[in-house]
Amino acid sequence: MATTKGDIKDAGLAGGGWRRIEWAAREMDVVRIIRERFAREKPLLGIKLAACLHVTSETANLALALRDGGAEVSLCASNPLSTQDDVAAALDAEDGISVFAVRGEDNDTYYAHINAALDGGPHVTMDDGADLVATLHSTRREKLEGLIGGTEETTTGVIRLSSLADEGKLMYPIIAVNDAETKHFFDNRYGTGQSTLDGITRATNVLWAGKNVVVAGYGWCGKGVAMRAKGMGSNTIVTEINPVRALEAAMDGHRVMTMDEAAPIGDIFITLTGGMKAVDKRHVETMKDGAIVANSGHFNVEIDIEALEEMADGKQEARDCVDEYLMQDGRKLYLLGEGRLINLAAAEGHPSAVMDMSFANQALSAEYLAQRAGSLVNKVHTVPQDIDQEVGRLKLAAMGISIDTLSDEQQQYLESWRIGT
Ligand code: ADE
Repeated sequence: MATTKGDIKDAGLAGGGWRRIEWAAREMDVVRIIRERFAREKPLLGIKLAACLHVTSETANLALALRDGGAEVSLCASNPLSTQDDVAAALDAEDGISVFAVRGEDNDTYYAHINAALDGGPHVTMDDGADLVATLHSTRREKLEGLIGGTEETTTGVIRLSSLADEGKLMYPIIAVNDAETKHFFDNRYGTGQSTLDGITRATNVLWAGKNVVVAGYGWCGKGVAMRAKGMGSNTIVTEINPVRALEAAMDGHRVMTMDEAAPIGDIFITLTGGMKAVDKRHVETMKDGAIVANSGHFNVEIDIEALEEMADGKQEARDCVDEYLMQDGRKLYLLGEGRLINLAAAEGHPSAVMDMSFANQALSAEYLAQRAGSLVNKVHTVPQDIDQEVGRLKLAAMGISIDTLSDEQQQYLESWRIGT
């Protein structure tokens, strides 16, 4: 029997995991180019790296690049339902990589795995939602020593870490990978847009055309979901708390209203606010029979599941990832993926081609941290612009797209105030 270094479901699944990892690699040219350079230059030699990311075939390609760069990688899941067990098995069998992740793990196991990833005493952390950093700053403070920096993948994590920094309590520098243009313009918008509809479609096989689709939140993720739902022929409704974003949604052609107004007319509800209770008890009260409710925001707090449970006479599993709640007044409501990120719970997350850019930023930011060990202040940093631009350049080249460059005359014009009317 195969031995494991970490804690995974079944080492015997590794063969299937490898096929998925190689399939994803076909669309991850930028990570491949970085991996090849890392293998030659070893910029992460001697670095212990603890990563708390969704354990998918795309993450596997990142982990292999980091390992080839010289890092010793411990990987745990950033969500209990997003782990691809076959990928976890394949990766854990690799030298220099240990995986602590089992799809469907309970809360205690989820945190036991985070702690296991920290046990080795990392120099660099890589987080998606900031659970790793939050654990380090609360129950594992002894492991703060020796840390040179970390990276954060997602909007929710950047918000949490900025709040820690604002309180003056962030103990090492973090690079907000989410805020790179080559990350959120593409991953958050096109990745979440496509993968959220993919997850809901796989879970329900619902027809989007003609449905009233309510999208809560019009950040980059909400924009992507609303745009794609509209493209599928849905009547899109956006709810927002930010007046500028609400205006943008209205001018992008969506109906904008309050959730109180949207609740009785929506067929499908999708939350992506980054906050809590965007779908609250009073909204559940007025939803129509058959309404489908899903979350694609980072944490499972955007839908008031407790209220739904209390208000229901009972529930049953209608299909994989679909819980049918029988309400006391006879209505049936459908909650997808236990309110967790539906694109990862019911589908495979964002497509590899878009994760290629996000994870290229991750790999290059880890290299940047290693090069500047001890010289960065303890705050949330933006990804250096030359990294962002380099990722954009490499992706364009991989897509076979050439772009123009400025002539000297054009460059001088842009730099001068002298030429006017
Ligand atoms: N976040 C969203 N989609 C993802 C994917 N495919 N892999 C890792 N993290 C993700």
